[in-house]
Amino acid sequence: MNRRLGVLISGRGSNLQALIDAIREGRLEAQIAVVMSNREDAEGLEKARDAGLEAIALSHRGWPSRDDYDRAIVRELRSRDVGLVCLAGFMRLVGAPLLEAFPNAVVNIHPSLLPAFPGVDAQRQALDYGATVSGATVHFVTPALDGGPIIVQRVVPVLSNDTVESLASRILVEEHQAYPEAVALLLEGGWRVEGRRFVRGAGSARAKSANAASA
Ligand code: GRF
Repeated sequence: MNRRLGVLISGRGSNLQALIDAIREGRLEAQIAVVMSNREDAEGLEKARDAGLEAIALSHRGWPSRDDYDRAIVRELRSRDVGLVCLAGFMRLVGAPLLEAFPNAVVNIHPSLLPAFPGVDAQRQALDYGATVSGATVHFVTPALDGGPIIVQRVVPVLSNDTVESLASRILVEEHQAYPEAVALLLEGGWRVEGRRFVRGAGSARAKSANAASA
């Protein structure tokens, strides 16, 4: 997997900023090749431009089908030689054209401990359900909504006086740690996906060939 990231956003872009900061601070060895938003007014586009990154808006409106929009995204990503696609608050379902173009190379961050509370308003769902812990999950994107193999999770307590906002901001702190960490793990290689499990280290294809080479 090459180290060129394509980051897809729809709004604020704080997870994008966390990736930018991690790269700047040397915690993540990667380059952001392009930031794309389906909304022209996404705050995250400004954050990207402030960081000197290419930032483009590509509206989802006006395409004959969802697949046509996905194909347009793929063209933009491919033309910039992107190796890993990071969804960071991208409020669109991504379909087969994008997933097939980047197999095991589209990831997302979600503000709950999946498989609990997929979909929108995950923090409200956790609070309303009465969960005593929630958190953040970085996972591969598959056709199942928020249902792909899990790469990194971080746990956050739900406090009795929490509001949706206070819980969301506590989770966000962990999101900003978890996303760069997960991207670094992926770029490092030496992992595989076995069924639903993201497996690292010994036993991976890379480790096996290294062992074979040293035997
Ligand atoms: C985050 O809570 C992320 O987990 C969810 O959407 C939100 C995006 O926030 N998928 P930001 O745009 O990264 O600030």
